[in-house]
Amino acid sequence: MSLTGSASSEFQSRHIGPRSADLADMLNTIGEQQLSELIDRTVPPNIRMQRSLNLPAAMTEFEYLQHMQALASKNQLFKTYIGQGYYNTITPSVILRNIFENPGWYTQYTPYQAEIAQGRLESLLNYQTMVSDLTALPIANASLLDEGTAAAEAMTMFFNTLNKQDHIERPKFFVDEQVFPQTLDILKTRALPVGIELVIGDYQNASIDNTFFGALLQYPNNLGSIVDYRSFIDNVHAAGGYVVMATDLMALTLLTPPGELGADVAVGSAQRFGVPLGYGGPHAAFFAAKDDFKRSIPGRIIGISIDANGGRALRMALQTREQHIKREKATSNICTAQALLANMAAMYAVYHGPDGLKQIAQRIAHYTHIVAEAVIARGHKLMSTTYFDTITIASDKLEGIREKALRQQINLRYIDSNHIGISIDETTQVSDLFDLINCFENDTDPVAFSIDPDNNEIGIPAAFKRQSTYLLHPVFNSHRSESQMMRYIKSLENKDLSLNTSMISLGSCTMKLNAATEMMPLSWPGWSSLHPFIPAEQAAGYKQILDELSAYLCDVTAFDACSLQPNSGAQGEYAGLLTIRAYHESRNDHHRNVMLIPISAHGTNPASAVMAGMKVVVVKALENGYIDVDDLRAKAEQYSEQLAGIMITYPSTYGVYEETVIEITDIVHQHGGQVYMDGANMNAQVGLTAPGLIGADVCHLNLHKTFAIPHGGGGPGMGPICVKSHLAPFLPGHVSTDGNYAVSAAPFGSAAILLISYAYIRMLGAVGVRASTEYAILNANYMRARLDGHYDILYTNHNGRCAHEFIVDLRPFKKTAEIEAEDVAKRLMDYGFHAPTMSFPVAGTIMIEPTESEDKAELDRFCDAMIAIREEIRNIEMGLSDRKDNPLKNAPHTQARVITADWSHAYTREQAVFPLPYVAQNKFWPSVARVNNTHGDRNLVCTCEPVESYQS
Ligand SMILES: Cc1ncc(COP(=O)(O)O)c(C=O)c1O
Repeated sequence: MSLTGSASSEFQSRHIGPRSADLADMLNTIGEQQLSELIDRTVPPNIRMQRSLNLPAAMTEFEYLQHMQALASKNQLFKTYIGQGYYNTITPSVILRNIFENPGWYTQYTPYQAEIAQGRLESLLNYQTMVSDLTALPIANASLLDEGTAAAEAMTMFFNTLNKQDHIERPKFFVDEQVFPQTLDILKTRALPVGIELVIGDYQNASIDNTFFGALLQYPNNLGSIVDYRSFIDNVHAAGGYVVMATDLMALTLLTPPGELGADVAVGSAQRFGVPLGYGGPHAAFFAAKDDFKRSIPGRIIGISIDANGGRALRMALQTREQHIKREKATSNICTAQALLANMAAMYAVYHGPDGLKQIAQRIAHYTHIVAEAVIARGHKLMSTTYFDTITIASDKLEGIREKALRQQINLRYIDSNHIGISIDETTQVSDLFDLINCFENDTDPVAFSIDPDNNEIGIPAAFKRQSTYLLHPVFNSHRSESQMMRYIKSLENKDLSLNTSMISLGSCTMKLNAATEMMPLSWPGWSSLHPFIPAEQAAGYKQILDELSAYLCDVTAFDACSLQPNSGAQGEYAGLLTIRAYHESRNDHHRNVMLIPISAHGTNPASAVMAGMKVVVVKALENGYIDVDDLRAKAEQYSEQLAGIMITYPSTYGVYEETVIEITDIVHQHGGQVYMDGANMNAQVGLTAPGLIGADVCHLNLHKTFAIPHGGGGPGMGPICVKSHLAPFLPGHVSTDGNYAVSAAPFGSAAILLISYAYIRMLGAVGVRASTEYAILNANYMRARLDGHYDILYTNHNGRCAHEFIVDLRPFKKTAEIEAEDVAKRLMDYGFHAPTMSFPVAGTIMIEPTESEDKAELDRFCDAMIAIREEIRNIEMGLSDRKDNPLKNAPHTQARVITADWSHAYTREQAVFPLPYVAQNKFWPSVARVNNTHGDRNLVCTCEPVESYQS
C-alpha cells in the first residue's frame, strides 16, 4: 500500500475493535470462512444494497480537525442579545473539562442499573432539587428535551388529567400571546392531532370557563415584562383548570417563583446554567409540578430509596419503563432526554451556590436596567416597565438601528418591523453596554452616557422580589474552591460504570465508541457559542455541515429528503408520523388514522402514534419472533380504508433480518398505508441495505446510536428523519425559517451534536461505515456462538445467524435455580460489566449488542463472565450452592459488604468480588448493594433530603 493512501483508513482501525489477526479465529468460532460469507448468510439477498455509498473518502483525525477549524471560521461570532429562551453563558472550566469533555460522564447510559450509576443519579437529584427550589414546586423531573416541548408536555398532561380517553369535556387550552413564538409553534403541532383547541390571546381579556383544561403563561414574558398573573391563575383554578408557567431559572433567583404565584407546573430551559448555546442545543429543559401530578409527570424522575443493606441508594422512580409498560396509554413518548446537560446545569448551581447565582442575576438585571434607561434617554419607547434581563423597544427607526448594530457585529432581536428585543446575560460586560447603547444613539444629537458605580437599581418591582430562600442544601453550599468542585465531580464519576471502564452491550442502544476527535470541536467557540436564531449568513459553517450531513443520511437510507430537527428517536417517530398524517390529509384521506404496530415494537412507537392522533392496532409475532404476516394481512384488510401505515423496526427488535420484510411493506402499500421504519437498529443496515430498499417511506435515525453521539447518561440524542420524495413537502419546519409545523424549539434541534455524526461519517467514509456494520454483525455472531450451548439463544435466522444483537433466554433458570434476569444483571456488575438490555423485547431475557467498537479480548472477557455466571447457576441447580444465599442473589457485592467481619455466606469473599482473574486486576466496585425499587416508589422522595436530615 502506498504511504499516501494508508492514512485514509486510519480512523477505521481506531473505531473498529477486532484486529485482522483475530478475524479467522472469530469466523471459525461462528462457523464461517469469510466475513462476506457471514454477511451473505445473515442479510437477505433481496434487500442487499447493490451500490457503494456515495460518501466522501475518509479523512484522518488530523485532517478532520483541520477541516473543522476551517469551517468554524465561516461561522461569525457576533455579540448576541437575541434571548428568546437562549442566552450566552459561561461554562465554568472545571465543569467543561470534567463533565462535558469527560468520557467518564458523557459515555454513560441511562441509569437503569442503579447500583453502578449512583454518581449521575446524585447529580440528577441535585438537578431536580435545584429546579424544585427555584420554581417552588415540590416535584421535578430529570430533564426534558427543550422548553417548547416541555410546555407541550404540560399541556398534554393537563389535558389527560381532566379528560377521559374517549370523552373530551374540556378541549380548550389558553395560551397567552406573549409566550415565545417557538413554544407556541410546538403547541400548535401537538394540539391538533389529539383534539386540543388552542385559544391564543391576551391573558388580561381572557374569559376562562369549564371548557378550558388549562393555560400557559410566560414569566417573564416574550417582551421581557414581569406581569402579575395571580388573579388570572385564580380564574383558571376557579374554572377547574390548571396553569403552567414557562419561566427562567436565572430570573427566579430574584423573582417570586411560580409555585408561590399558584402555578401548577413550571417549565423552561436550564441552558443558561452553563450549557453552551450550540446553535440550538443540546440543552436540558425542566418540568416541575405540584404533588398531585407526581404519577403523571412525563420523563424520568430520580428518587431516593434503600439498598439491600438498608443504606441510602438512588434510582429512577415510577415512570422508569413507562412506555414499555403502558404503551399507547403512556404519559408521553419521552425516553432519551438531556441528562448530560441537566448534570452540567446542576453542577453550575453547585459551583455558584445560591449567593453566586443571585449575584449573577443581580448583575444581569442591573445591566438591563442601565440599557433600559439609556434607551429611554435616547428617545425610544419601552414596551414594558418591569423586566429582569430583557427589554423590548418600540421604534420606527428599526432599520437604522439594525444597520448600526450589524456594523458593530451586534445581533439584536428584531421582533417585527418596529419592535426590537435586547436580552442581557452573564457574559455581558460594561464595555459591551457602551457598544449596545451606541446602536440607539442619534449621532446628530448624542446623549452623554456614563455608568454610576453606586447605583444598583434593577427593573423588578418590589411586589415581585423573591422573599423565599432556595438551594439551602449542603451540596449547593460546600463546593466553592476548584479543588473541592473537581473532587466532587470525580467522586460521582467514580461511582458510575461508563465506556471508559468496560463494554456496555445494551441491545437496541448501540453503545459504540464516541471518539475523542468526534467530540473535540463541540468545545470550540466557533461551534458552541452560536445562538439558534442568528441570521443564517452568520452560520455558514453550520449550514455546510447540516447540508452535507442531510445528504449523507439520505444516501445511507436511500431516501430523498431529511429533517434534522427531532431531538431524540421518539421525537423522530412523532415527526415521521406527523409527516405521514400530513401526506394523507393532502390527499383528502383524513380518515386514515390506523397505525399497525408489531407486538415486539419499542414502547415509544405506540406512544408516539397516539400523540400523532393515530389508533394503534397490534400485529402478532410468530414463535420465531418474525412478524406474523397472516395476521398483518388480515389487519391490513380489516382496516384497509383507515390504514395510515405500519411502524416496523429493522432488523426486528428480536435481532433478525426478517426475509419477509418486502412482503410486509408491500401489503401495507397495497392498502394505501405508509411504512415507518424505526431506525434504532440502523447499525445493522448501513452500507448493506437501507430503509428505502426494504420498502419504507420514512425513518428516523438515532444518531446517538448508529452515528456515534454519546448517550450522556440518558441524553442528549438526535432523531433526524429521512423520507422518500412524496413525503418531503410534509417535513417539519420552523417559525424562524419556513413556518411549517415544528417539533423542536430550535430549527436544527440539538445542532451542536450533529457535528459528532458528521465526524463519524467523514472519518470513516463509505468503506468505513459499511465495515462498521459488518463488524457489528461479526461481533454479535461471535458472542452468540461463544454463548450458544451455555445459554439458549432466542431468534436467529434459518442459517442460525443473528443480526447485530441477540437475545439470551434466562427464563428457564427461574424454575431450575430460582434465578431471574435481574440476578444475572446484578452479578455481571461483580464481574465489572454493565448488564445488557433487560426484558426488552422479551421479559426474562437479556439482549446483547456488542457493536463493532469492541475488540475480541473485550468480547471474550464478557463471554467468560457470562459462562462463569452460568456455572454459578449450575451450582445452584446441582444443589452445590444455596438457592437463597448465593453470589447471584446477593449481587452486587460492595466493598463495604466484603470487608465486614460477619461474612456468613457459603461462598468466599474472593468468589463474591474477584470471580475471575481479570477482575482482580481492574476491579470496578458498585457503590451500593442491590437497590430496593418498591421501597422508593412507595415512599417517593425526589429532591435532596432536607438539611435537617444531614444534621441529625
Ligand atoms: C427500538 C427503539 N425505538 C425507539 C427508541 C427511542 O429512542 P430515543 O430514546 O432516542 O427516544 C429506542 C430507544 O432505545 C429503541 O431502542
